[in-house]
Amino acid sequence: MKRVGILTSGGDAPGMNAAIRAVVRSATLRGISVVGYLDGYTGLVENQFVELDDRAVGNQIQRGGTFIGSSRCKAFMEPEGRALAAENMRRIGCEGLIVVGGDGSMRGAQMLSKEQNILAAGIPATIDNDVYGTDEAIGFDTAVNTAVDAIDKVRDTGESTGMMFFVEVMGRTSGAIAMHTAVAAGSAGVLVPEEQEELTQLVKRLRHSIEMGKRSHIIVVAEGEEAGGAFAVGQKVGAVLNHNYRVVVLGHIQRGGKPTMRDRIVASQCGALALDRLADGKTEFMIGIQRGQPVEVPFDEVVRGQKPQPRTDLLRLALQLAG
Ligand code: F6P
Repeated sequence: MKRVGILTSGGDAPGMNAAIRAVVRSATLRGISVVGYLDGYTGLVENQFVELDDRAVGNQIQRGGTFIGSSRCKAFMEPEGRALAAENMRRIGCEGLIVVGGDGSMRGAQMLSKEQNILAAGIPATIDNDVYGTDEAIGFDTAVNTAVDAIDKVRDTGESTGMMFFVEVMGRTSGAIAMHTAVAAGSAGVLVPEEQEELTQLVKRLRHSIEMGKRSHIIVVAEGEEAGGAFAVGQKVGAVLNHNYRVVVLGHIQRGGKPTMRDRIVASQCGALALDRLADGKTEFMIGIQRGQPVEVPFDEVVRGQKPQPRTDLLRLALQLAG
C-alpha cells in the first residue's frame, strides 16, 4: 500500500486531531503517504483533500475539533456519491480509507468498501459514546469532564443563592454524558432518554431534600430526554415546588476544548492500530477499546450490534448518593 486517505465525519469530538496524528505518523513508519479529505465525506465526493505528513500533524495532539473539518454529508448516502468518492480516490492512488466518527460514519465506510472494493477502517469518535463495539469513543471523556467542570461552577451559585439548577447536557438519543456527569458532579437528579424517572418521583425527592435543609440542587437533563429538555423540566418541577430555579444549557461547549489525557490515549491507540491493520490489507473493521485495549471489531458487528446499554447502575448510584 502506497497511499491512504483519512477523514473525520459527523459531530466533531475532542481527540480527533490526535487520531489523525497517530494515523499519519504510523503511516510514515511504513512508507505510506496520507491525504486528509476535507469536511468529512464531502471532501471525498468533491475531491477536496490536503497532503498530510509528519509535520502537518505536529502541534495538533492537544487541539480540540478537527483541523481537516467535519460534516454530515447527504451526497455520500447515495450510491452515486460513493461511486464518485471511490473514483476520486483511485485517481490519486489512494487504496484505503480511515474514517473517524460515530456509527453513521462507520456505516458509510462499510458501504464504500462493499460496493467499491476500497479498503476501509473506522475509529470511533463521538461525545455521545454510543458506538457499538467500543467501551470508549474519542471525545466522550473530554465532554463529560467539561460538563462536570461547568456544574462545579454552577453549584457555587446554587450554594450561595439557594437556587435550583436544571443543567442540560448533550445526547439526543444517548444518556451517557448525563449519567456519568450526574455521578461525577454529585447531582440531585438525572433525566435521560433511555430511562425515565417519573417527574413526580423527582419532585418528591427534591421536596424531601429541601425540607432536610439541602441548599444546592443540580438536576442533569439529557437533551433528548422525553419530557422536553431542561427548560420544560425546569418549568414543571419549579412550578410544582414553587422554588426559584434557573436553566443552563451547556450545548456545544461539550464538543470543544483540549482533549483529556484519556481521549488522547484512546485516539493514539486506535489510530496506530487502524493504520497497521489497513496496511496489512484488512478491511471493514473498526478499532475499538475493550477493557482498556485496542481491538479489531468487524463493521458488520458495529452496525448490527445493539447500542451500548444505558449504565442504569450509574443512574441508581447518582440517586442513591444525592442526599
Ligand atoms: O455529535 C453528537 C452530538 O453532539 C449530540 O450529542 C447532539 O445531539 C448532536 O451532536 C448535535 O448536533 P449538531 O451539532 O448538528 O447540532
